Amino acid sequence: MNNKKRYSIDDCNVVSLPKHTRPNGNLTVAEGNISVPFDIRRVYYLYDIPAGEERGGHAHKQLQQFFIAVSGSFDVIIDDGDNRRTITLNRPFTGLHIRPGIWRELNNFSSGAVCLVLASEHYDEDDYIRIYDEFIAYSKEDKQ
Ligand code: TYD
Repeated sequence: MNNKKRYSIDDCNVVSLPKHTRPNGNLTVAEGNISVPFDIRRVYYLYDIPAGEERGGHAHKQLQQFFIAVSGSFDVIIDDGDNRRTITLNRPFTGLHIRPGIWRELNNFSSGAVCLVLASEHYDEDDYIRIYDEFIAYSKEDKQ
């Protein structure tokens, strides 16, 4: 029996992070299990993305992620196998929580965009589903 929990795109929330506004600039904090809904084990960031390029194009079986446009803007397309939605991230105090089993594509990066990613697990290539047809098959498994 497979115990994997099935998430939909409606379980992927846009979250406002605390913003401390001061005359000398702003500060936003992201804390694991407080504003970010999981323990943070890994941080990475995408930058110097050439115009017109795309990132992502995969799903994860277990990994949870939290995406923040710390500079500039980009679109995140999320897909649960049944429905698909595009979310524009363009504020350094707003993040998108992506649950396990959700296909994602990132595109429409502005010049100078930086995408900060907080992740619940260390890097594991075996956790990736990189072929869309395999993702669709995976998303249909165990469906009632
Ligand atoms: P990938 O997750 O496919 O990037 P994206 O979703 O942004 O397009 O990763 C790109 C490459 O970087 C791939 O060869 C694996 C490597 N990588 C690591 O070694 N460690 C990491 O934590 C991540 C996220 C990627």
